[in-house]
Amino acid sequence: MLLTVHDLKKTFPTGGDPVTVLDGVSLELQPGEVIALTGESGSGKSTLLHIVGGLEPADSGSVHFDGQDIVAMNDSQRANLRRTSIGVVFQQFNLIPSLTVRQNLTFQARLAERGDDVDLDGLAASLGLDTQLNKFPEDLSGGQQQRVAIGRAIAAKPRLVLADEPTGNLDETTGSAVFELLTKLARETGAGLLIATHSERLASAADRRLHLSQGKLAV
Ligand SMILES: Nc1ncnc2c1ncn2[C@@H]1O[C@H](COP(=O)(O)OP(=O)(O)OP(=O)(O)O)[C@@H](O)[C@H]1O
Ligand SMILES: [Mg+2]
Repeated sequence: MLLTVHDLKKTFPTGGDPVTVLDGVSLELQPGEVIALTGESGSGKSTLLHIVGGLEPADSGSVHFDGQDIVAMNDSQRANLRRTSIGVVFQQFNLIPSLTVRQNLTFQARLAERGDDVDLDGLAASLGLDTQLNKFPEDLSGGQQQRVAIGRAIAAKPRLVLADEPTGNLDETTGSAVFELLTKLARETGAGLLIATHSERLASAADRRLHLSQGKLAV
């Protein structure tokens, strides 16, 4: 198993009553498998992806990636794993404004010391970004920025891709193309793919779909 999430719990303190967002979430993801994560706004999809990606702590539970527990790692072990093996597409993109599209696309691969392995032309072409490479993020449309965020996450061919509504800003045709690109990566490289989406159409195209509601996952 590539990823095994077991009994994950997360409660956020707020001004009023604490909000329990994850209340015992478990899932398994195999190499090459595509899982769609659905659930209404505020159900905890981003929180789950952030915990799985080692970007946010859990209150309890475990996240085993290749047999190692991400929750139990120290910061530098976790950062190292993220850099070399996990690609994250953030809901808010998180592109680096001072870097060009080209530099954003190769950024994570360079951190992972695999910058020279990136097929930048192929990646840009498959994302429809070939004519945008020398621009800065602020000069791009929302959909173009989203495609850069996707390209950056997959450029180094990570073993696990966590994509948070990766097609949210894209029209239907571009969204389908991007989804197919992510799926193709999973099929070709054996990466596991966990995609949060509000799109019924994309969710039904995944290998499996899981629905998050009231802190629990259901099929
Ligand atoms: N850092 C935080 N502090 C307090 N509450 C938070 C924090 N992050 C998220 N929450 C709360 O946790 C709940 C789940 O948020 P989350 O962003 O995971 O939902 P989501 O399913 O990704 O929603 P959307 O579909 O709108 O992106 C929400 O009620 C949100 O207000
Ligand atoms: Mg979200």
